[in-house]
Amino acid sequence: MNLKDHIGHVPDFPKPGILFYDISPLLAHPAAWKATVELLAGAVSRHKPDVLAGIESRGFLVAAPLALYMGLGFIMVRKRGKLPGPTQPYTYDLEYGSDTIEIQKGAIQPGQRVVLLDDLLATGGTLAAATELLRDVGADVRGAACIIELAFLKGRDRLSIPIDSAISYDS
Ligand code: PRP
Ligand code: MG
Repeated sequence: MNLKDHIGHVPDFPKPGILFYDISPLLAHPAAWKATVELLAGAVSRHKPDVLAGIESRGFLVAAPLALYMGLGFIMVRKRGKLPGPTQPYTYDLEYGSDTIEIQKGAIQPGQRVVLLDDLLATGGTLAAATELLRDVGADVRGAACIIELAFLKGRDRLSIPIDSAISYDS
């Protein structure tokens, strides 16, 4: 099965000049989605994680079913103001301005092995920030995985952890 057949390409979304990679057709296709979960589970399992962390919002679509499939717990990395406190924030720079992500204090025990999940690796800014947030609360961040990697953006060069992707685009 070619998983790329189930990725939509939407020009000029959400802004002019941006090509949006849409996982909706993949999620809607039971066999392709099952194959994706199995592929990611194989990659993630070699890190022997205690828990999986998903990044709001599309990362939840990957991390929650994968955690269930692997018999692991799932924790949420959310955008600011969405989680009941006390929370640990991490603020990071964007091209214009900044963004803050949060985790609930106590969601992770110090030393727990965590693997991060998101739908897409572009510049790597989101996964890099989530890695630092998890380290701030004492997690042992072993790696990350995503469905789509835009390899031509070289996002993985920004990451201090290994990352696996189910689908990669070189251009
Ligand atoms: C998108 C995507 C990744 C991130 C990748 O999320 O789901 O999380 O951008 O970009 P990066 O590697 O350059 O950081 P977005 O912020 O659009 O929000 P969403 O997941 O809530 O749709
Ligand atoms: Mg996202």
